[in-house]
Amino acid sequence: MAIATVPDRGANMPLAASERRSVRPAWRAIPRWPGPGRAAGDIGDASLTSRRTVPVVTVVQTKPKGSDAHARPDKNDPAEGKGEAAPPRNAMLGAMVQALERPRAAFSWAPQRPPRNAPPVRINLYSDTQTRPTPAMKDAMMRAELGDEQHGDDPTVWALCDRMAALMGKEAAVFMPSGTMCNTAAILTHCQKGEEVLAHETSHILHSEGGAHAALTGVQILPLTGRRGMFTAEDVRAAIRPRTRYAPPQRLLEVEQTTNIGGGAVWPLEQLNAVAAVAREQGWATHMDGARLLNACVASGVAPADMVAAYDSVWLDFTKGLGAPLGAVLCGSHAFISAVWRWKQRLGGSMRQGGICAAACLHALDHHVDRLADDHANAKALARGLAQIEGVAVEEPDTNLVFFDIRGTGVSVEELQARLRDAGIMVSALGGRVRACTHLDVPAAMIPEAVSAIREALGRGA
Ligand SMILES: Cc1ncc(COP(=O)(O)O)c(C=O)c1O
Repeated sequence: MAIATVPDRGANMPLAASERRSVRPAWRAIPRWPGPGRAAGDIGDASLTSRRTVPVVTVVQTKPKGSDAHARPDKNDPAEGKGEAAPPRNAMLGAMVQALERPRAAFSWAPQRPPRNAPPVRINLYSDTQTRPTPAMKDAMMRAELGDEQHGDDPTVWALCDRMAALMGKEAAVFMPSGTMCNTAAILTHCQKGEEVLAHETSHILHSEGGAHAALTGVQILPLTGRRGMFTAEDVRAAIRPRTRYAPPQRLLEVEQTTNIGGGAVWPLEQLNAVAAVAREQGWATHMDGARLLNACVASGVAPADMVAAYDSVWLDFTKGLGAPLGAVLCGSHAFISAVWRWKQRLGGSMRQGGICAAACLHALDHHVDRLADDHANAKALARGLAQIEGVAVEEPDTNLVFFDIRGTGVSVEELQARLRDAGIMVSALGGRVRACTHLDVPAAMIPEAVSAIREALGRGA
């Protein structure tokens, strides 16, 4: 796309119609879900505290009038065809570009440190990613037998991978530093550049992986709609493209179990199997982002291997409700995991004495799975308490994520966050709603205290 040189004009000149049409903030292209455009919104679990959305502007500039034989009059431009002198455009575009560059220069991609004088956090409902390893988990880490993971010598990593492959009913597994790297390596393995991945419009791969799939995997993501982060087999069928040389080749169907922005919802097993069956009919692969898969299994009573049987690849995060400090395990066939290893190496995800972290994950499998039911019960108690506050609309939680809408109180999400932070309580903001997450470090006794602090911060009495 060439940006043609244009004659000079004053910075305050209005845009011609042709320019107006082609200068468009990119976020408008995202349908329905209002999250990314919200300045202080948190669209994932990263702990950036001051986030600013910088609009990306696409400038498709027409050639200046009379510059060459290709210049055509624009029927929609009131200045066209009336014998008026074309206004100079260079300065206008220059000013626009400068205006966009300024906030970029001021923005830091790095997470911000908490202010020095911030009161200590007493109740952390921000995310289940912020759990701290328990003393028993740290003890297990200290006792771990270690080796060189990327050399295949770390017995604790092997023990974790074998255990996870068995739990998920897959042939093989690989230990990865993060869930984001699992998604990236899985998509790189399943797809070629230019192919299409079908995923929900609120999916983590679309919103919270830093554009990795445009930058690294080269796939495009077709966003599907549906309540609470889920879609149906009919939705998938309706999204099937004709196999022509014009359409992007569709290659992979991705689901999140549980859904994050979708509200911690649990996909019913029949629906998971039904969407995967459409993918199989089409010859596509299937991938499950199981960041909180065991929350879904505990809430539904479905065994992990049954839950993921229809999916070619699946990963589980140990840094969410399971409370480990690092690690996720990606599972699939021998051939798939072997191919993933090449990407793991390329992405810098191969480890050395990784067993120290794998030991924390093994400890979590032994001690932190059944207790996820406590987090779910606490989430329900929190939702019930919040529903009593006038002006607060609460979504009934399936698992450990409680989303609530406070527009009816006249207090903004940012104000609520700030007031709660002053009281030593943290919650997150997602797509204009507040998210409160229950986990290992939030015992039941904290729930009534959290409810009354939120009530007070919303000006509805203590
Ligand atoms: C649904 C979902 N997928 C992927 C991730 C990324 O996991 P990680 O933080 O381990 O990279 C998250 C993190 O919050 C998530 O909620």
